[in-house]
Amino acid sequence: MFKKPPVHSNLHASSAKTKALRLTNVILCGLLVISIFWPTRSTAQEKKEPNATASEPTNAGAIDESLRSIYPNLPPDQDPASVARGKDLYDANCAFCHGKEATGGNSGPDLLRSVLVNHDEKGELIGPVIHQGRTGKGMPGFNLPDNQISDLVAFLHQRNRDARLRFTYKVPSVAVGDSVAGKAYFDSHCAACHAGSPALAGIASKYQGDELQQRWLDPRRPADVTVSVSLSTGQKYSGKLKHLDEFNVSLYDSQGNYRSFPLNSETKVEIQDPLDGHRKLLEQLSDKDMHDVTTFLETLK
Ligand code: HEC
Ligand code: HEC
Repeated sequence: MFKKPPVHSNLHASSAKTKALRLTNVILCGLLVISIFWPTRSTAQEKKEPNATASEPTNAGAIDESLRSIYPNLPPDQDPASVARGKDLYDANCAFCHGKEATGGNSGPDLLRSVLVNHDEKGELIGPVIHQGRTGKGMPGFNLPDNQISDLVAFLHQRNRDARLRFTYKVPSVAVGDSVAGKAYFDSHCAACHAGSPALAGIASKYQGDELQQRWLDPRRPADVTVSVSLSTGQKYSGKLKHLDEFNVSLYDSQGNYRSFPLNSETKVEIQDPLDGHRKLLEQLSDKDMHDVTTFLETLK
């Protein structure tokens, strides 16, 4: 089903290059990839959120749970008043560098894909960065009172949550888009990887309605995620990724041998996930594009 045209391998060549970095950098660049393998933390905060709003389908809780298998650190809903105050503070103090949507700007990194932000629960990691800044790296410290720090943290967690859920919570009215516009979008953004008609032909017979939309927004993890590990001794190993967390990486090499390595600052880990490009695209998708594409896919019976 999946064809691999040259465009696709280029995408991967460049993303592979950026990932051939030290572990910390690997984690920053490949958060989506890595979070899939991150062991699920179960903290009180991550328990199912009962307060689904009217616009969410009734199975929102279930979707929340299933999303946690992909995003173990999915933050819970934050207090709306705190989020609103945090947004004003963010716009005034942070947006200039980190971008209006917190997805990165002129000089500051994407805060939604930040491992630090994703591992923060109540400001214990974000707070010190705001207070002290990263002065050597271009971020000044902010002398803000604790309540304003909490508001900024609430804003970042809510943004983070919304960014992950927007693909899932808007499921109810699927095939309401414009299939002609959807096809145009598909041709320009998707066809490079899903070449022309045979690629996704029959997709609408395979999956219907909600499931179709769900499946293309969040495809199953393909089996061919590969990893290369370079140790400080210069030895290199590569193969099929078995597991990756903060402490270890393990793989099956081409002979089928299981190998596991502890991670330290000298270990370089490079991951190639064929779905990387697919996921990146989804981050830029507007709601209209999403409905249009689904409507188009509905025609591929
Ligand atoms: C002048 C530009 C600038 C401003 C203003 C700024 N930042 Fe930053 N911020 C940066 C840079 C650059 C980094 C990356 C530093 C590094 O590489 O470690 C950073 C890093 C961070 C990090 C750590 C991300 C990570 O993954 O390590 C957080 C959290 C953060 N900023 C939040 C904020 C918040 C909240 C504000 C507003 C109160 C803010 N920043 C204002 C430039 C800025
Ligand atoms: C950078 C390459 C790339 C781009 C761009 C891309 N995809 Fe994918 N997509 C993949 C890979 C890899 C898979 C997982 C392997 C597979 O199932 O074919 C996948 C899986 C899918 C699936 C699931 C297929 C199934 O049978 O479960 C659908 C549907 C899909 N993509 C639709 C799209 C649409 C629509 C777009 C454009 C909005 C798009 N893709 C853009 C690479 C890409």
